[in-house]
Parts: sequence; C-alpha cells; structure tokens
Amino acid sequence: SQTLQETLLAAIRTIPDYPKPGILFRDITTLLGDARAFRRSVDELVHPYAGSKIDKIAGIEARGFILGGAMAHQLSSGFVPIRKKGKLPYETVRVAYSLEYGLDEMEMHRDAVSPGERVILVDDLIATGGTAEGAVKLLRQMGAEIVAACFVIDLPDLGGRAKLEALGVSVNTLIA
Ligand code: PRP
Ligand code: HPA
Repeated sequence: SQTLQETLLAAIRTIPDYPKPGILFRDITTLLGDARAFRRSVDELVHPYAGSKIDKIAGIEARGFILGGAMAHQLSSGFVPIRKKGKLPYETVRVAYSLEYGLDEMEMHRDAVSPGERVILVDDLIATGGTAEGAVKLLRQMGAEIVAACFVIDLPDLGGRAKLEALGVSVNTLIA
C-alpha cells in the first residue's frame, strides 16, 4: 500500500507561475477532494495529540479552516478562526505580518482563547513563516499555550519551520 508521503505527493497539485511568474504553487484543493488523502492527512495531523487535552484548534484563513475544523472534531476541541483584517465582527486583537512581498494584518476575536488554554495552530503550508509567526503572536498575546503548529506542507528552503522553532514553537509537518 502507498506510504503517506506517496499518497500526499500524488494528491497535491503543482501550478507553475501562480500567483506570480516563477512561483510553483502547491495546490491542496486536489488533496481535499480526494477522500482517502484528506482523511489520512487529518488523521496524521491529530495523531500526536490523540488522548491529550487540546482546548482549541486555531486555523489560519483560508485553508487552515478546512483542516482545522476536521482536526477539532476529531480531538473534541473548539475551533478558532484567525482571519485577514476586517472579517471578524466582534472586538479583535490584530497583528501585522510579513508576506513574501509586503505586509498584511490578521485578527482574532479577543475572547477566542483564554489564558492557559492549550492550542494547536494549523495551516495548509508554511513558506517564510511570516503568517504563522503572526498567528503565534496573537495567540500568545491572549495567554494561550501553543502546543504545536501543524502544516501539511513545509517549503524548507524558505525557513518558516526554523523561524517558528526559534520562537519556541514545536512544528509538525507531513511532507516537505
Ligand atoms: C498561504 C498559505 C499560508 C501562507 C504561507 O496563504 O496558506 O497561510 O501563504 O506563507 P508564509 O509562510 O510565507 O507566510 P495566502 O497568504 O496565499 O492566503 P490565502 O489562504 O487567503 O490564499
Ligand atoms: N501554496 C499555497 N500557499 C503558498 C504557497 C504555495 O505553494 N507558497 C506560499 N504560500
């Protein structure tokens, strides 16, 4: 039978020159549409935390919502959305973060996590780590204990994993 790596490699689509010339975009919509690959990915992401108490899964917009919702269900945890600015209706905490080109801002509801809660952060992919670093800052500002940050895909040449580990965050990825 196929290894997890083989299943994921076959299920992730690569689009050249999206969204800009020279970028090889790793598209997980094909993985999400493949029932077996989707289930195996979520099973693998939650596996290290089975049986431990995780209060919240924090998902990064947009693809972290899909993975995080499934993880929260499987771990019987709550789900917290971390969104691009201006999308959340209640009072928020906000942070600027760096993208490959430029800056943006993201937000979380100020009552979404309580001090001491054990939280897992999730997104589809880590590249430079700027997005995940912003999310870590928001969660820590609210007193969360970040148990780990999880990603289906690591692009190791862009240094994101090392950036998070330097912040004391343990990182779990399925394929590089
Ligand atoms: C992608 C990806 C991560 C982020 C990773 O999202 O889903 O959130 O980039 O890049 P980084 O590690 O260099 O910060 P994107 O910003 O394209 O937004 P989207 O989810 O709205 O498409
Ligand atoms: N796919 C999805 N998000 C990304 C990528 C990618 O290849 N590179 C940077 N962010």
